Amino acid sequence: LTHHALNGKHFIVTAGGTKEAIDPVRYITNYSSGKMGYSLAQALVENGATVTLISTVDDLKLPFGVKYIAVSSAEEMRNAVELAFDQSDGLIMAAAVADYRPENVAQQKIKKQTHDPMTMTLIQNPDIVAMMGAKKAKQIVVAFAAETQDLLKNAKAKLLKKNADMLIANDVTAVDAGFGVDTNRVTILQKDGDSISLPVMSKIEVARQIVEHMIINMTKE
Ligand code: C5P
Repeated sequence: LTHHALNGKHFIVTAGGTKEAIDPVRYITNYSSGKMGYSLAQALVENGATVTLISTVDDLKLPFGVKYIAVSSAEEMRNAVELAFDQSDGLIMAAAVADYRPENVAQQKIKKQTHDPMTMTLIQNPDIVAMMGAKKAKQIVVAFAAETQDLLKNAKAKLLKKNADMLIANDVTAVDAGFGVDTNRVTILQKDGDSISLPVMSKIEVARQIVEHMIINMTKE
């Protein structure tokens, strides 16, 4: 591998948990820190690529040279990814996209009800990576799977369902992996069925491994 294997290539990376509005002062989200996405942006830049980072979090150090697009909800993230996708060489969906959002966003702050429980109807968000997987041409599409059970079985099914080229699976119940922490332990699945389980390492080291496997994958085709 040459150091600048990705010179002239442009990648989209998404990061962070999406925020799904309930009313002007409330939203639904998840524990994603955005660290994995930022690390991936850095690893891509290290290999000479240009990167557009589409993120819900902006409290991390932006790697030098990365173009930053701030988004909040899954729908905003979908719009931003769609706009950039055709001109890109690949997409890494490291963001934790909410599967559901409130059906209606209240215009005013919702008042406490006199009787409980109260209910809220949720509708499904678009599956961004599956949409891009369905329409990809030259692009390499990388999805993530955070699982709490049957990691590899669910991850393989997801790789196929989303028509991804690679899927990065992590067991978020492991204390040294997943949300919020600085380390991760992942298995990289390839669409041809190959899988590589990596030991616990820092998120930047995991990101460098993922990018190396992307480079191998891209030179295979
Ligand atoms: O289906 P699941 O949410 O477990 O899949 C995780 C992968 O799919 C991640 O790469 C995530 O960024 C992506 N995803 C998405 N749009 C959604 C839900 C998940 O792109 N609505």
